[in-house]
Amino acid sequence: MSRPYSVVIIGQGERGKIFLHGFLKNQERFRVIGLCDHKNANLEESARIYNIPRDMLYNDADEMMRIKKPDILVFATLPHIRLSLVELGVKYGVKGILFEKPMATSIYEAARIVKLCKDNNIRAGVCQQHKYLRSFDQLRGILASGELGDIMEIRASCKAHASQLGTHYIDYMIWANGGKRARAVVGHAHGNFYLNDSHPSPDYVMAQIAFENGVRGIFECGYFSPKRAQYEVEFTYGAKDLAFWTDDRLAVFGTKGYAWAECNGRYACFTAKTLPEIVSGDYGDFFEHEQFYAQERFTAEYGQWLDGEGIFLSDIETAYHGFEILEAIYRSALECDRIDLPLSFSDKTDTLECLKSRLKPVTYRDF
Ligand SMILES: NC(=O)c1ccc[n+]([C@@H]2O[C@H](COP(=O)([O-])OP(=O)(O)OC[C@H]3O[C@@H](n4cnc5c(N)ncnc54)[C@H](O)[C@@H]3O)[C@@H](O)[C@H]2O)c1
Repeated sequence: MSRPYSVVIIGQGERGKIFLHGFLKNQERFRVIGLCDHKNANLEESARIYNIPRDMLYNDADEMMRIKKPDILVFATLPHIRLSLVELGVKYGVKGILFEKPMATSIYEAARIVKLCKDNNIRAGVCQQHKYLRSFDQLRGILASGELGDIMEIRASCKAHASQLGTHYIDYMIWANGGKRARAVVGHAHGNFYLNDSHPSPDYVMAQIAFENGVRGIFECGYFSPKRAQYEVEFTYGAKDLAFWTDDRLAVFGTKGYAWAECNGRYACFTAKTLPEIVSGDYGDFFEHEQFYAQERFTAEYGQWLDGEGIFLSDIETAYHGFEILEAIYRSALECDRIDLPLSFSDKTDTLECLKSRLKPVTYRDF
């Protein structure tokens, strides 16, 4: 495989376009040679916005793969289509795969995807890209400086439910903890409204995670998480107000201070050096510009990794560990017990189906 790496993207909805943007901003390493979507309107829109020639547009993914024979397969489709597209990449001998979170709809599918990529020497990653936002850069800088002292606790919360933003934030906890693995999890889940969503999840999930280095993670996502922005909420899929989708926080507490970052551009830190102030800032709108910036950096880091230059923070093994933590939280909620990691695969319990049969509707209130 030689540079620039040829790329095709399946799915040209909201996220597929942002992937396209990321690759077009990294042309020294990548060349987009095909786009595919069942929906012509989405293809046409991408072609118009990004000036893509018509002979690069396809409705059928297999046909595009057969004709284009890309180095890298990217897909930005809804969660139920993951394994089949990884298998498509294997069939056509791709060397790299990037795709959207959540990485699968079950732990067994996730494990199968990891194995397929490993067995076929495919360098793969999952798009959990908020850690490349400038607000997260501020947190990254504080963590690297050592100003927080010894890290004791990492808290992550988001209003959106688990397979929407939750998987992101588990990944960011792992990132803030230097890639250290979780050893055990105690979790809670309730509410069955979103279990029938395109991104199936309980309505609220909370957990304590014990990491191998002694750091504790406190994680929550869903309607009962703290609300830190102003917006009208509706208990239906896709809250209309965009502020809902970036109402989240990753906070790191050390022996000498704390710091946090949010997707909406805000960040803050309080350490001996900032005394008596809390230093804070706001990079502004996620949807207008920050998400594009993060995608460019995510893509650049992937390219460097392909070239053997440094690590890729969104590699598939790390994504799998995050997915495994979420699965452990669900199992803990179902079994009312602590779950140790790595998970055992002795049975083939369908955790989401178990949650569907056990969880009840919640009376929704805007807390
Ligand atoms: N990383 C992030 O910050 C972030 C943000 C939002 C959504 N997402 C994730 O991105 C994924 C996609 O979300 P979206 O909002 O772009 O969805 P979307 O519905 O807007 O777009 C998906 C597109 O894929 C197309 N598609 C599906 N299967 C196909 C196939 N087999 N062949 C060709 N086209 C196919 C659909 O026609 C559609 O246009 C979801 O998993 C979602 O969770 C990630």
